[in-house]
Amino acid sequence: MTKDLLRALGGEAVWPPPIWLMRQAGRYLPEYRAVRARAGDFIALCTNPALASEVTLQPVRRYGFDAAILFSDILMLPWALGHGLRFAEGEGPVLPRVQALADIDALDRARLPGAIAPILETVRRVRAGLDDRTALIGFAGGPFTVACYMIEGGGSKDFAATRRMAYGDADLFGRLMHVLTEATIDYLLAQVDAGAEVVMLFDSWAGVLSPALFRAHVTAPARRIVGAVRARYPALPIIGFPRLAGTMLGDYAVMSGADGIGMDTATDPARAQWLVPSRTALQGNLDPMALLAGGAALRDEANGILLAMRGRPFIFNLGHGIVPQTPPEHVAALTELVRAA
Ligand code: CP3
Repeated sequence: MTKDLLRALGGEAVWPPPIWLMRQAGRYLPEYRAVRARAGDFIALCTNPALASEVTLQPVRRYGFDAAILFSDILMLPWALGHGLRFAEGEGPVLPRVQALADIDALDRARLPGAIAPILETVRRVRAGLDDRTALIGFAGGPFTVACYMIEGGGSKDFAATRRMAYGDADLFGRLMHVLTEATIDYLLAQVDAGAEVVMLFDSWAGVLSPALFRAHVTAPARRIVGAVRARYPALPIIGFPRLAGTMLGDYAVMSGADGIGMDTATDPARAQWLVPSRTALQGNLDPMALLAGGAALRDEANGILLAMRGRPFIFNLGHGIVPQTPPEHVAALTELVRAA
């Protein structure tokens, strides 16, 4: 029996569609908060295979999702390359700022295998803990989004320093993008070697670039990564999520060659069908705030997406990650609604 998620990514209009949710393991679940309190900090949790595999499996047990997504973070890649990282309580990630060539030359690809060893052990344990209908998704950040956090030193409202470097110091920016793209390939292939059945690229800030820079720093690296993963694993499905891509979604879908395309909250699914080839699966895109609100808003929004996506390869998901305030019962209601479609 082929898993529904893999069938949808293979171009089949599986109905009812498979469902999983971005950030499905996280603070909205009491059982996650309990493990998180035991682990100490977030990085300690990501590098503890016993605890990380447990929190990966928690939402799968509770809701019977069609996929488990490795519990880790896109910023574990720079961390594994020797770049500092900490998660400050309540303010998100904090990293040293990349400002000069020396900061890029200091990134050490040779450190990667040792540093990611516990994450790969988590992948192996999760895979061993899944039944024959649930697929395991590995992931990495899109190199552009990872570069954003490294240049800004954390989150930002507009990633101005990153965009300024991309336009004003194209050589330096290109160098960083190159190192991150190659390291991302190593990292994703290692996850597949360890048991990941699908990989997803989260390019959360893709939408802050002009069309020319989007092609150069979002689409081109995605194409390179898809090509390199396929060179070793020709049948391995890859999902791209160029968040806030707008009308660039079509270029990305065609040029990257991804098997699935994540739609963000603002994307009209009916329009996305015209931009994305019909055999490419679409994934998304319920507003996490509709899930938080619940009730009629949740039902209407979810039904609208289902209506637009019926008859084509599709994976139900959110348009961005679950927020911590979400009542777990709303997630149960959504899962039932989608399963009854
Ligand atoms: O989806 C999943 O359940 C898998 C695990 C996962 C996490 N982060 C766990 C996490 C995945 C796939 C990510 C991706 C990620 N991380 C992205 C891309 C997707 C997106 O949301 O746009 C980005 C930009 C990051 C960077 C990041 N990690 C930020 C900005 C933050 C702080 C904000 C926050 O929610 O606290 C994190 C921390 C983080 N990553 C948490 C989790 C569960 C919260 C950590 C905690 O328990 O305190």
